[in-house]
Amino acid sequence: MLSQYPASIHASRWSDLTYSAIFAVVTIPNSIPSARKHSDDWFRNWFDEDYLALYQHRDSTEARLFLDNVRERFQHLGSQGVFDLACGAGRHSWVLATEFDWPVVGLDLSLSLLNEAIKHEPIPAKGRPIFVRGDLRQLPFQDTSCHLVLSAFTSFGYFSDNSEHQTTLNEMGRVLCAGGVLILDLMNPSVAIENLVPEDETSRNNWRVKQSRRYVSESKRIEKTIELIARNGETRVVQESVRLFTPDELTAMLQAAGMKLIDRWGEYDASPFDPTRSKRMISIAERT
Ligand SMILES: C[S@@+](CC[C@H](N)C(=O)[O-])C[C@H]1O[C@@H](n2cnc3c(N)ncnc32)[C@H](O)[C@@H]1O
Repeated sequence: MLSQYPASIHASRWSDLTYSAIFAVVTIPNSIPSARKHSDDWFRNWFDEDYLALYQHRDSTEARLFLDNVRERFQHLGSQGVFDLACGAGRHSWVLATEFDWPVVGLDLSLSLLNEAIKHEPIPAKGRPIFVRGDLRQLPFQDTSCHLVLSAFTSFGYFSDNSEHQTTLNEMGRVLCAGGVLILDLMNPSVAIENLVPEDETSRNNWRVKQSRRYVSESKRIEKTIELIARNGETRVVQESVRLFTPDELTAMLQAAGMKLIDRWGEYDASPFDPTRSKRMISIAERT
């Protein structure tokens, strides 16, 4: 169900929003850049039920492992309000809201995934996240309106125009209050490139899944083609294209967005980042 929420979300209304009975996806008017202007945005079409079925192993158990470590370090911030940006079907938002009792707004562009996010069973007695449809490049939130921003599982690096990645970080910096923290969970570029499997074929969810991957050094992007072949031969082909960022490049971009790197984890278990070994590059930056 899609409904309109008339105003931007402001910090003073966190408690009203979180505990009110909004069981719908909220869209704030004019907050989504037009699809016509951004027709090469591959991510507009891919993040739907097929994506969820293909990546079903990325579940709340994995989210909880990560978030337990976030809570250990940032309970004082999270308890005051979190934006889960590019929340997808809400696996992190639900853990944060129902298990940690933190006020949470999850934002994503994909209506299909947001509609999955609101179908949470059983409905908890307290602490539901609010789900908002919006675009990372133009967040429908007021300045300094939250204490913790989470960007989980490679939800950054999709834009063909690299300046839009800086725009996104600027937006994250804008909505954080001074002393607030961004947790940005990306692939570790050197390990991702070194371990790239050029082609493979698996069976999943009644499909044969053929995937091919390559790193394009000129654009610094991993280009992945996924073919989903159903039993009746029907085929869906999708393209993922993700820009990689070196640790130094990202630190400079965070700085330009008014944030200072304070730590880097290499895995969801919060182990320290090792550029030659870590699978993830989880940057933690404080709003200055
Ligand atoms: C790899 S998924 C991760 C989803 C979620 N964070 C998780 O861990 O399950 C990336 C998400 O980014 C969202 N996304 C991509 N581009 C976006 C944009 N410009 N604005 C908002 N969301 C976007 C997609 O719809 C998708 O849900």
